[in-house]
Amino acid sequence: MSAVDAPGAEGRALRGELDPARVAALDTGSEFEAVARLSEQLEAGYTRAVAALTGKRLVPSGRPDGVVVCGMGGSAIGGDVIGACISGMPVPYQVVRGYELPAWVSEATVVIAVSYSGNTEETLSCVARALPRGCRPVCVTSGGRLAALAARHDLPLVAVPGGLQPRASIGFLSTPIGAALEAADLLHGFDEQVAEAIEVIAELRGELAPEVADDDNEAKTIARRLLNCLPIVYGAGVTVPAARRWKSQLNENAETPAFFNELPELDHNELAGWATNPGVVGRAFLVLLDDPAGDERLRRRLAFTASIMQPRVAGLVRIAARGVLPLARVLSSAYVGDFTSLYLALLYGIDPAPVVAIEDLKARLAGEGGSAPF
Ligand code: PA5
Repeated sequence: MSAVDAPGAEGRALRGELDPARVAALDTGSEFEAVARLSEQLEAGYTRAVAALTGKRLVPSGRPDGVVVCGMGGSAIGGDVIGACISGMPVPYQVVRGYELPAWVSEATVVIAVSYSGNTEETLSCVARALPRGCRPVCVTSGGRLAALAARHDLPLVAVPGGLQPRASIGFLSTPIGAALEAADLLHGFDEQVAEAIEVIAELRGELAPEVADDDNEAKTIARRLLNCLPIVYGAGVTVPAARRWKSQLNENAETPAFFNELPELDHNELAGWATNPGVVGRAFLVLLDDPAGDERLRRRLAFTASIMQPRVAGLVRIAARGVLPLARVLSSAYVGDFTSLYLALLYGIDPAPVVAIEDLKARLAGEGGSAPF
């Protein structure tokens, strides 16, 4: 699947610590199990969403004029994933991460609010803005205030199972967006995309799970090489959402800074930043998400960009997307990162589930933990 160099010295020093016993000792929130069950989530999430949305009217009348998906973090990423799977859709599609809706949203816009907890203030703000415009937001949540709003306003609701981390629920949170687009008659054949993704992800799980020995396990190999490096993840075309997912999974599971960017844009600015200052760039480790079924112009750029940067950075790995249809290609690119981030957490001695810094900030904003310093 990828071109991986030999593991670095730091990685070798920790060999033997990524086995199921180490997972059982550190992974108190069962993050590995949740990630391992992505195929099952995709199947259950799609079935559940189709049942909830079939026959529902998502706009008051006529043809929708656009689609807006509102969410943050682990709930928003599904919006990006589905955004990569809808080429040819006849109306604009936008993922909103913030408090405000775009000016163009009208009663004819399909608004989809995704919040795993149901209590994310930015997402709730978007719903509050959508209602007076005459929209009927589709609510995707495990409960909280979003579920209560859906009940109060009789909004279409896709209820997802609780008890997981939002980022570990991507199968439950993304498939309802595709199902909503189908219900609005904006997308066709999404069931085929889901079916292929289920197969491809199940196959990958068999290669990346903790039971698979280190030398045969690409995610373990990459995690060892990322140790004490700064991960930089590049995507192009359908792998851009996967690059974002890699970055946020590394941030939240392994609690490491990580960044992502996309081609072709980065060739017009970021590339210049890699030319100097070896003290900084020498700790960067590049992860390139290649899509063999993608645009040849983008693939060529990825190869050239890699060749320019390789001598300057600590290491580089290329991951090749699998599958034919976009959903499988996006999710397969992201899935290697899901497992890599979990293994990197183990190497750093971190339980991957808690996100203390994020919870602390939310509590402070809710007025429970002191005031802002400015
Ligand atoms: O992964 C996480 O925990 C976060 O990125 C959350 O998804 C984000 O803070 C939004 O919360 P929710 O998904 O509950 O709307």
